[in-house]
Formats: sequence, C-alpha cells, structure tokens
Amino acid sequence: MRKWLVAAAMAAVFAVPGVALAQAPIVIKFSHVVANDTPKGKGALKFKELAEKYTNGKVKVEVYPNSTLYKDKEEIEALQLGSVQMLAPSTAKFAPLGVKEFEALDLPWLFKDDEAYAKAMKGPVGQWLFKKLETKGIIGLAYWDNGFHMASANKPLINPSDFQGLKIRISGSKIADQYFRELGSIPQIMAFSEVYQALQTGVVDGCENTPSNYLTQKFHEVQKHITVSYHAHLQYAVIVNSKFWNGLPADIRGQLTKAMDEATDYTNSIARKENEDALVAIKNSGKTTLHYLTPDQQAAWRKAMQPTYKWAKGRVGQEVLDLVAKELNVQM
Ligand code: LMR
Repeated sequence: MRKWLVAAAMAAVFAVPGVALAQAPIVIKFSHVVANDTPKGKGALKFKELAEKYTNGKVKVEVYPNSTLYKDKEEIEALQLGSVQMLAPSTAKFAPLGVKEFEALDLPWLFKDDEAYAKAMKGPVGQWLFKKLETKGIIGLAYWDNGFHMASANKPLINPSDFQGLKIRISGSKIADQYFRELGSIPQIMAFSEVYQALQTGVVDGCENTPSNYLTQKFHEVQKHITVSYHAHLQYAVIVNSKFWNGLPADIRGQLTKAMDEATDYTNSIARKENEDALVAIKNSGKTTLHYLTPDQQAAWRKAMQPTYKWAKGRVGQEVLDLVAKELNVQM
C-alpha cells in the first residue's frame, strides 16, 4: 500500500506540465580531437562558458576534447545521427559529408598570410561553403583559425626531393594527398589520435600540422626535423546538426549565436599567438631541429606542388576555385 502511494505521488509530480521537466537543461555535446590547450580547445571552452552564461544555465555544454568521445570519422557520423550536437572538424575532413568543395582551402600557399585567410572566410567563400552543408542536414556556425602547417620527418625536409618515398600522415583532404604525391611521397589518411604512435613506431615517416598541434600532441618529440614551411592552412568549421539547432526555442538559439560569435572572435584572436608561442616551446624543448626555407627553397616547393592546382579542378570543381581566386585576387 505504501509503495503504491509513493508511486502515485511521484507520478503526480512528473505529470504537472512544465515542472520537473522544464528544469532539465538542454545538453550540447561538443566533441573534438585536439587538446584543451590549443586555439580550438580554448574556443570550445569559451563557447561553453558564454553559452551557459547567456542562457542562464538553460543550456549545458559538455566539451569532449582529445578524441575522448569520438575519433575523426566517428564524430562526423555521430553528428549526423544526433549523438553529439556540435563539432569543429578541420575543413580537410568534410568530404565524407559529401562536400568536397571545402578542400579548395587546402591548396598549397593559397593564403599569402593570416589576413588573406581571415578575409576570405568572412566573405562569400565562407558563406558559399556553408550553404553547401545545408542539404546535408548540417548548419555551419563559424570558422575557427589554427594557422599554417609545418612538415616533419626524421630527416631534414629542405628540397622537394627529400620527400621522395616518405610515408606522410594526412588528415583527410585529397588536395593534401595530391600535393604530397607531387613531392614524391606516399600520403596516408589517419585519425589524429593515432598519429603520435604511428610516428613513434614508424608506421608513417612524417606529417604536417600547426605548431600548437605538434606541441600538445608531442609530435615534435618523435620527429627529429620540422620544416617551418607554412605551406598550407588549417581551419575549422564549427557545425551543428540542423534538426537540433532549428528545434531550439528561438530565444535560446539567439543566445547561443551570440555566444558562438564571441567565442569565434576570441578563438581567431588567439590563434596566431598560440601558434607562435607553441613554436618557441618546441624550439626550447631541444627535442627536434627546426628548419626555415630560403626564398629559393620555398620557390622549389611551390613549383613542385603547383600541379595540384590543375588537378584540384576535377576534385572540387571550377565554381569554388573561381570564387576563391576572385576573393584572393589570385590566378588559379
Ligand atoms: C588533424 O587531424 O591533423 C587536425 O585536423 C586536427 C585538428 O583538429 O586540428
């Protein structure tokens, strides 16, 4: 009898509309693959802080860094299935979503500096790419910067011929695959969480990445030589599942948009310094040797990788290449 009474009382509580249930926060699971102590890691935590503040705790953001929840490929599937709500993958990893056009951003020496990159992503190129995502049930909220790639191996990479026959880990883009092939190396796609071990055990000989990723993943401890080539750019697109996003109450969506805009400004404002500091820390660690290309050596790399531009047309299509060329005022 008493048991029955308790059950009835509990049922009554849960039946009162809007009482117990309205207090459960909306949970946003934000999964990513890098360390907290990187531009993206810090950006995700800034978004959490601001989103929870602006929604007065009605939204709770759970950040899962360092592939603790999902690795590269799995996290994209999880977003589509709704098992996570927010990601910020590198745009080099968007082909499995059916949007190869993002790979145009991986063309070697496309952006002449940070400013050229920032301008392009704020302009029509960034918006055009986000439009492409819409048909895939995904909404692009922001672009987050992480600077330029270096390249490394256990031997100095000074001339294009130094790449001959090396197995190089890449993150996913066929454009990167192509430019490493043009250098005579053998690129291999691999999840970010597996790179350290693959370098350490010799499954691959080398890789490319930004200073903040080298430092926080300790890649510099298992690569004797790093060339500060800055040959390509690494950027992220913060994406959400559209069903989830469009299903949010309008006021909450507005508060989250404000939180995202501010977290984006923050992330993009720290990216350059974070990478500069990381490079200094790598140098000071004494665990690797940094190399800088002379203008002639850089010209030789560029020349060797140049055929990628022609090849890219068949991969990403002319439309995005024209858009990028116009925005950056360059010839493709
Ligand atoms: C990589 O896989 O190399 C990077 O895209 C990781 C990241 O998210 O910065």
